[in-house]
Amino acid sequence: MLPLSLALICSALVVYKLASDFVTEAYDRALYDSALDLSRRLRLRDGRLTVDLPPAAADMLEIDDIDRVYYAVRNDDGNLVGGAADLPRPQPSENRRPDYYYARYLGQGMRLVALRVPYDPDNETMFAQVIVGETLIRRRLLAEEILVAVALSQLVLIAMICISVYLGVGHGLLPLGRLRAQIEARSHRDLTPLDEPRTPREVRPLVHAINELLQRLQRAIVSQQRFIADAAHQLRTPLAGLRTHAELALREQDLAGVRERVRALMHATDRSARLAHQLLALALAEPEASATAPMSAVDLVAIARDVTAEWVPQALAHQLDLGLAAAAGSLRIRGNAVLLRELVVNLVDNAICYTQPGGQITVDVQHDAATVTLSVEDDGPGIPPGDRERVFERFQRLAENRTEGCGLGLAIVREIAQAHAAEVRIGDGASGKGTRVSIRFARIDAGNSGALTRQTAAASGPG
Ligand SMILES: Nc1ncnc2c1ncn2[C@@H]1O[C@H](COP(=O)(O)OP(=O)(O)O)[C@@H](O)[C@H]1O
Ligand SMILES: [Mg+2]
Repeated sequence: MLPLSLALICSALVVYKLASDFVTEAYDRALYDSALDLSRRLRLRDGRLTVDLPPAAADMLEIDDIDRVYYAVRNDDGNLVGGAADLPRPQPSENRRPDYYYARYLGQGMRLVALRVPYDPDNETMFAQVIVGETLIRRRLLAEEILVAVALSQLVLIAMICISVYLGVGHGLLPLGRLRAQIEARSHRDLTPLDEPRTPREVRPLVHAINELLQRLQRAIVSQQRFIADAAHQLRTPLAGLRTHAELALREQDLAGVRERVRALMHATDRSARLAHQLLALALAEPEASATAPMSAVDLVAIARDVTAEWVPQALAHQLDLGLAAAAGSLRIRGNAVLLRELVVNLVDNAICYTQPGGQITVDVQHDAATVTLSVEDDGPGIPPGDRERVFERFQRLAENRTEGCGLGLAIVREIAQAHAAEVRIGDGASGKGTRVSIRFARIDAGNSGALTRQTAAASGPG
């Protein structure tokens, strides 16, 4: 509404200016005609200039129902011959063209015209000055009438525009209203696409975008449901195992038999606990949860060192040589220490799990100017290139492995890497055999980096 009002005011100003120009021109012509009439009444009597203006004619000239009209005639010497002596005179000018001007007279604004007319047929050098002036009332009234007429018609026009815009927008939004009703009527379970072809062309891209979102949501929900089903299934197996072992232990008569059953029971409990831990870790690493995980400057070298030291006993139990090769000093990235620890633990756990006795496992943290790369390398069986994408999926394990596990480790690793905008790669080990999983993070400071040394946290193996 404001722009329209401004436009209305501007156009009214322009119209007023144009109208008063036209009015001035029209009334000036009439004023000039009066001055010309008067100049025709100049007479030369006994060599003296006079004005032959009978009272009726003077009335005609002066009496007007709206404006007051005044005149003055002077001879060449400037002496008044007829009319009002104090009527304002124009600026001195030599030409004979009518001279129009504004002035104040008797407290009123006036428009005046001054003519220089020859009055002696025998002497072309004798001129009289004829001035006729009128008040401005009629001129103003006319200009105002024009302004009011134009402004009124514009107001009507604007009102009509507003009404048609209002009705047009309302009509144009009808399909959106229908769409809203369609969405409102849905249950939260109904993620089928909205009826795209039947929506009007203008909102079709919007409906298309909503449908794509619904599709993504549908896929996410399906995968979430599958995950829950898988998790329930995975949990049920070890729990059923627990119960079976407990029942068998109860039936056992001799102590050695009971001990055997209880050992199996403990083992099944460990597996259940581990599965529960992995499920929880995955839930925490998922984008919805990890987005709110507090991030700070974290030293990857320190985390790698701690995890390596912590897992040495397990490595020893599997007759493996677990060591750390990393820059002495610190290499910092922006991250969540708890999640990053979980990531390293899962990689080290896999290396220990899948490497045959006598093997070597190296945890490494390297850097360049902009990145820090953490890697865990072993000389085990390796992961075939064709499976290097698949192993990241949840509950996916390679067919040939007979070790215990639930297939969540690398899925957790990938979720945590993604939460840190890091890149995960699976490659071969240094000697062409084994596995090297590396994760490249963005580095936050240059830090200090010492010589690369393999600080063997523990070295053990047969022989
Ligand atoms: N270091 C490794 N060496 C060989 N195979 C590996 C290694 N790490 C992972 N894998 C393979 O990838 C699969 C998926 O690993 P993961 O997601 O950690 O699940 P899990 O260890 O519970 O089986 C494993 O079952 C294994 O076949
Ligand atoms: Mg694993």
